Amino acid sequence: MTTADQRTAARTERDRQREEWALCSAAWRRHRRAFTDPGRAITEGMLRLAAPRPGERALDLASGVGNPALALAARVAPGGHVLGLDLSPEMVAEATAVAAEEGALNVEFRTVPDEGTLGVPDGSRDLATCRAGLQYMPDRPAAVRAVHAALRPGGRFVAMTLGAAERCVPFRLTNGIVSRHVPLPAVEPETGPGPVSLSSLDELTALLAEAGFTGIRTEVFEAPIFEAPDPASAWDLFTETAGPFLKLFAALPPETRKAMDEDAARVFAEAFPAGPVRPTGEILLACGTKPL
Ligand SMILES: C[S@@+](CC[C@H](N)C(=O)[O-])C[C@H]1O[C@@H](n2cnc3c(N)ncnc32)[C@H](O)[C@@H]1O
Repeated sequence: MTTADQRTAARTERDRQREEWALCSAAWRRHRRAFTDPGRAITEGMLRLAAPRPGERALDLASGVGNPALALAARVAPGGHVLGLDLSPEMVAEATAVAAEEGALNVEFRTVPDEGTLGVPDGSRDLATCRAGLQYMPDRPAAVRAVHAALRPGGRFVAMTLGAAERCVPFRLTNGIVSRHVPLPAVEPETGPGPVSLSSLDELTALLAEAGFTGIRTEVFEAPIFEAPDPASAWDLFTETAGPFLKLFAALPPETRKAMDEDAARVFAEAFPAGPVRPTGEILLACGTKPL
């Protein structure tokens, strides 16, 4: 049961997310290979669990610029289709442009007003994915119920989230850098949606079970999250794509930003002294089936 206050808080949170992801959507497209190529183990893990087949109709919630929607599109061809859904119209526009660039004809991207309103007929999809998306949603149970409704009986859903910041090198390093210059709670509230706010496998599996998914299988493993050729590029990648931090970075006095940049160059160089910056993180996967 959600109260009027909870609904208002959820709307405010979505407005914040929409604004933040709009600010970095072009950068996500520009930098997409820095995530998709090193992050292939994550996407492949999701696809292994979801087991897409040619001819199937898939749904990808919080699709960003198309990961894993575009990989799924290749797997359900010929004859299959992927619908990518995202809260941010700007992300949807970038994903649409990426799909056109890559010649993916069996994928379409659409904006959703909220995570519980997918605009998809009940029972119309064979499988669904959500990669690094649920943790940003204010009403996760509504999102998973909506995915469940969109699937046919026997349909599969695989969700991926990240482990806690201490187990995710990119967040451990960047939280450390940022918090030396500004108070961290200003950046990532301890409660509420954020990149590492759904870091418990029990919580993730409970979300699927409570929505009605059965036969839940899970995987936890360590995998690269992104790759950059050197420390300066790694920090640029982070400062251009980290939705929740972008407004904060834009508002920093130039001297604070300069000190943070220098700190970041030192921290990344110390952590990756011998070549490319390829930080790993703990990956949580959960896959459930809608009962027949
Ligand atoms: C970290 S990105 C992940 C994108 C992509 N799945 C990937 O793995 O590269 C998170 C995405 O979640 C979307 N998002 C945030 N809140 C959402 C919500 N309530 N409903 C749907 N999408 C949401 C954002 O717009 C953003 O595109």
